[in-house]
Order: sequence, then structure tokens, then C-alpha cells
Amino acid sequence: MNLNIFKNKQVLVTGGLGFIGSNLAIRLLDCGAEVTVVDSLVPEYGGNLFNLRGYEHRLRLNISDVRDEYSIRYLVQGKDFLFNLAGQTSHLDSMQDPNTDLEINCRAQLSILEACRKFSPDIKVVFASTRQLYGKPDYLPVDEKHLLRPVDVNGINKMAGEWYHILYNNVYGVRASALRLTNTYGPRMRVKDARQTFLGIWIRLILEQRPFEIWEGDQLRDFTFVDDCVEALLMTAASEKTNGKIYNLGGDCTISLRELGKMLVEVADGGEFLLKSFPPERKRIDIGDYYSDWNLIRETLGWVPLTPLKEGLKRTLDYYQQNLPQYL
Ligand SMILES: NC(=O)c1ccc[n+]([C@@H]2O[C@H](COP(=O)([O-])OP(=O)(O)OC[C@H]3O[C@@H](n4cnc5c(N)ncnc54)[C@H](O)[C@@H]3O)[C@@H](O)[C@H]2O)c1
Repeated sequence: MNLNIFKNKQVLVTGGLGFIGSNLAIRLLDCGAEVTVVDSLVPEYGGNLFNLRGYEHRLRLNISDVRDEYSIRYLVQGKDFLFNLAGQTSHLDSMQDPNTDLEINCRAQLSILEACRKFSPDIKVVFASTRQLYGKPDYLPVDEKHLLRPVDVNGINKMAGEWYHILYNNVYGVRASALRLTNTYGPRMRVKDARQTFLGIWIRLILEQRPFEIWEGDQLRDFTFVDDCVEALLMTAASEKTNGKIYNLGGDCTISLRELGKMLVEVADGGEFLLKSFPPERKRIDIGDYYSDWNLIRETLGWVPLTPLKEGLKRTLDYYQQNLPQYL
């Protein structure tokens, strides 16, 4: 992919202190982009100042909330690209506090797009959507034609957020695309607890030499290493073919959580897990087996997940071996 397209371009990353956003911001700096990061740093979410340690002098960091229309109105102006990654990501939180999820994942998305329409109509937007929109799959692998039937409030609000992007592309010509991410993992993810992903807490516990829990264990999943996700975000932004389109991302393999636990123990060269049944509040919003068909983005852009799961886990463990205290 020709990354020169980002050289000297003005790029805004919402959620840029978070897991995927910070990895993306660093990659964009390497491509010669002029990067502005906006993040609210709500402590319960994945934002962490350490994620951009060493890069602060090379980018503009704006600690503000995408729910603040005036900040967003100012921030989108003069930008060539917007990677729209700020979001409330906890499925359980969305059930316990549905209105906050609504404000961030739905209403704020509409305000961001309105700001683009009025103040930055030539911007290209890439939205981080989620496989959660599909709910419990009717068939596997899940392609983009699968019915959308979210099992939690987060899935419904992300669905609205995604479709506002497509609507603004189609009706107003604000070029926008969405990627439906599956479980994404790698350096800079939240490992303090299981709020962002179960893999985060598994990694913390294994490094602390404590057993981690796997609930049930037979569920199938796919995993995207964060560098591959970042590549997909960049490729989508760089192409005009993607305007108004939605693509699944996926992983190099499908694996049960039990096998994933074993692989992690093997890669870490030690550790143990306990198989437990699902806590009832989690069971109610569980999606069963999921893995995605990502042929559409492969055929359109040539994207493939390049990092094998085992290697990605190794790189992730290596990162947290060095940096765990910064994430606790
Ligand atoms: N990580 C995954 O497996 C995964 C899977 C599917 C979709 N996604 C989507 O990708 C995006 C990035 O996820 P992530 O895993 O990097 O999570 P993350 O929590 O690490 O990053 C999100 C960032 O957004 C910030 N944020 C939240 N609300 C905000 C607000 N109102 N204003 C400004 N900033 C705000 C947070 O502080 C955080 O830094 C999210 O939109 C998420 O829904 C992620």
C-alpha cells in the first residue's frame, strides 16, 4: 500500500489515547502525517497517556470529549482524514448504563458527522464499527450480508453510529466507510481488567503468575492483531472505492477460547487457567460462536491479516512484560 498519501496530511484520531487509536496515531506519524488526537481519558475506558509516551512532541493532543459539539466543530476543521475510534466499548456497561453508551456511540457520532458536513465537507472518515452488530450468528463465517440483530445496547448504538456514517456519505457526500472489527488484541490494550477484552485480563494474570478464568471455553472466535487492524484502517482511508462501504475484519484462524488459553500458556511458557461457567449477566449477552468472512476487504483492497495468532500473542506478552505497571 502506498502510505505516501498520508504524508503532510492533517489527520484527526478520536479515541487516539486508546488501544487501537494510539497504535494508529503512531503509524500515521511514521507515514509523515500531521496528527491530532482527541480523547476524553475517562478512566474506565482504554485511554492511557502512556500509550503515546515518547510521541507527545510529534502530535497534537487534545483532551476533550466527542460529546462536546464545540470541541468537535473546532477539531474537524482543516482535516483531510478522520479516524473515528472514540467509543464506549464495554458490552456489560452498556446494559448497566445504557444512556452513556447512547450519548457516546450514537448521539456524538451524529454530531461529529454534522460538524464534518458543515465545517469540513472534504474530509474522509473511517469509523471503527464492531462485529457485535450481528448478534448471535445464523451462519458462520459471518459476512457483511448477515442480518444485524445486536444482543446488547452497545450493539444497537454502534449500529446507529455506523449507519449515520453511511447516510452522511450517501446523502451529503461526506466520504465515509466503516470497518466491523472482531476481537482485536496487541500492545497498548487495556489489561487492568476485563472491561475492554477478556484477553487483557488473561495477560495481566498470566504475567502476575495468577490463574485466569475461561468461561465455558468451547466458543469459537477470531482475533485481529492490532497492526493488521491499523493497516486496514489506513487502506480504507486511502481508497475511494471504500466510500459508503462496510467491511468485516477477521483473523488468520478460528480458535476456541479453551485452545486460545492453552496457546497463551504455551507462549508465556507457564501459567494456568480455570474453566468456569458464564456469570448470568454475561451469559444473557453472549453471542456464542463467531468468526468472520473478510473476503470483501481482501477482494476490494487486498487486506489480509498478516500476523499469526501465536506471534501476535508473543508480541503482546513481550510488550506487557516490559510495561505492565503502566497499565495497572
Ligand atoms: N478492541 C476491539 O476488539 C474492538 C472490537 C470492535 C470494535 N472496536 C471499536 O474500536 C474503537 C476503538 O476501540 P479500542 O479497543 O481501541 O478501545 P479503547 O477504549 O482503548 O479506545 C477508545 C478510546 O476512546 C476514548 N473515548 C471514549 N469515549 C470518549 C468520548 N466521549 N470522547 C473522547 N474520547 C472518548 C477512550 O478514552 C479511549 O481512549 C471503539 O470504537 C470500539 O467500539 C474495538
